[in-house]
Amino acid sequence: MKLIFERSVEGYYNEMVAPCEVPVVELPETMKRQKALHLPSVPQPEISRHYTELANATFGINNGFYPLGSCTMKYNPKINDEMAAYPAFANIHPLQPEHTVQGSLQVFTRTERLLNEITGMSAFTFQPAAGAHGEFTSLLMIKAYHEKNGQPQRNKIIVPDSAHGTNPASVAMAGMITVNIPSDEYGCVDIEALKAAVGADTAGLMLTNPNTAGIFDKNILEITKIVHEAGGLNYYDGANLNAIMGVARPGDMGFDIIHLNLHKTFSTPHGGGGPGSGAVGCKEVLKDFLPDYYPVVTDTGITFTTPKYSIGTVKGFYGQFSVFLRALTYVLFLGSEGISSASKSAVLNANYMLHELKDIFDVPYGDSCMHEFVISLEKLKKETGVSALDIAKGILDHQMYPPTMYFPLTVPEALMVEPPETESKARIDEAVAVYRQLNDAAHAQPEAFHDYPLHAKIHRVDEVRAARQPIVRYKFDRE
Ligand SMILES: Cc1ncc(COP(=O)(O)O)c(C=O)c1O
Repeated sequence: MKLIFERSVEGYYNEMVAPCEVPVVELPETMKRQKALHLPSVPQPEISRHYTELANATFGINNGFYPLGSCTMKYNPKINDEMAAYPAFANIHPLQPEHTVQGSLQVFTRTERLLNEITGMSAFTFQPAAGAHGEFTSLLMIKAYHEKNGQPQRNKIIVPDSAHGTNPASVAMAGMITVNIPSDEYGCVDIEALKAAVGADTAGLMLTNPNTAGIFDKNILEITKIVHEAGGLNYYDGANLNAIMGVARPGDMGFDIIHLNLHKTFSTPHGGGGPGSGAVGCKEVLKDFLPDYYPVVTDTGITFTTPKYSIGTVKGFYGQFSVFLRALTYVLFLGSEGISSASKSAVLNANYMLHELKDIFDVPYGDSCMHEFVISLEKLKKETGVSALDIAKGILDHQMYPPTMYFPLTVPEALMVEPPETESKARIDEAVAVYRQLNDAAHAQPEAFHDYPLHAKIHRVDEVRAARQPIVRYKFDRE
C-alpha cells in the first residue's frame, strides 16, 4: 500500500479547504518557516482512496470474530456514535460558561449515578483518560488518604502475580512500592502469602478481578477483610467488569475504590490508541480526595467543584466526554436487564468455547472461566515446533482475529481468548472448527505454519527486525 506522501504529485492541490475566517497577519521574518512544509499534494479522490485503503487494511469487530483476550472487543451499537456526533454534544467547548452546557453536565451526573449503582461506589470522576491512568489516579488518592490520616509510612501496594501488567507499573508511577504475591494452584490469590505480606506499611491491595487468567477469586471476601484489618484499602481493577456487571458489585465485596475501562466494558472500541476513559469510582471515605472537576448538583444547576483534599488535576478539563457519553448511551440502551445479560452472555460464550476446545489444548487453571480463558500451547510446541504465534498467524487466514498471545506471562505459550458477548453460537462454532483444524494441521504439516498467514492483507512480518530497526518516519527525498 502506498503512503499518502507516495501518492503526492507536485502541482496537485485540493480546492476544498475553507477560506480563512480570521484576518491574515504578516509575521515577522524570524517567525517564518525556513523550509517548505512537507505536505502531500493530493486531490480529494486520492485522499478518499487512501483512507478507504487504510480502513480495508484493518480488522475490526464489524469484519469478523474478534476474541482478543483482556481487551473486550465489544460490538459498539451505532446509536453510541450518533449520540457522540450529536451537534449539541459535539460542538461544545470546555471553556463555555456552565449555564450554557447544563444538558451536557447532566451526562456526568447521570453516568455517575448509574455507575455507582452498577459498582456499589458512591462517587465517580471521569478525568482519567485510560485504564492505567485510572489506576494511577486511584493510587494517588489512596496515598493522599493515608497521608491525611497521619500514616505516610503506608506506601506498599500488594499486587498478586495474576494482576494486569499495568498495576505494578502504576504503583511505581505513583511513587509507591509493589509487594508481589503468588497465586495458588487455582489461579487465585494465595491467602497465606497475603496474610504474610500485610502490615503497618500496607497502603492497599490492587486486585484484578476476574484476573488475567479469567478467574473470579473465590476468596474475595476474605481477601478484602485481611487488607482492611491491616489498615489498608482495597482497590478493584475493574477493567474486566464485563464479566460481572449487573450481577455482582465490587462495592459489596469490600472494595473502596475501582477504575473502569469505559472504553471496553461500556463500549467504544478499545485499542489502536483511540480515546479512552478510565473512570474512577470510590466509597464515601475517599470522596474528598477525588481529582478536580468533580460535578455537583446545586440549587442553580450543575457545577464543577474541587473536593476538599483533592489530589488535583490528572487531565485537562474533565476527561474524554464523548467516551463516557457513549457509556451512558450504552447503559441506558441496555437497561438493567440488558447490562446483566451482557455479562452473562460473555461468561456463557467463553465457557462454551473453552468446553469445545479443552480436549485438544491445555487449560492451566480449571476448566471453567469468567468472560475469557487461557490455553497453553506449550505441549503443541514441544511436539511439533508450532508455537502460539504460528497458530495466531494461521487464524488470520480464516478472516478471524487471533486471541491475545503470550499473556498472561505466568502461562507458557499462552493464548487468551475472549469471545464477545454478542457472538452467536454459530460464529463461535466456526471459530472452534478453525482452532481444531489448525491443531490437526500443526501435527500433520508443522513446517507450513512458519509462513502463515498466506491470505491476509499483510503476510508474515519480520517481528524481530521491526522491533530492532523501527522505521517510523518517512524519509523525504528532499532531505
Ligand atoms: C485488567 C486490566 N487492567 C488495566 C488495563 C489498562 O487499561 P488501558 O489500556 O486503558 O490503560 C487493562 C487493559 O485492557 C486491563 O485489561
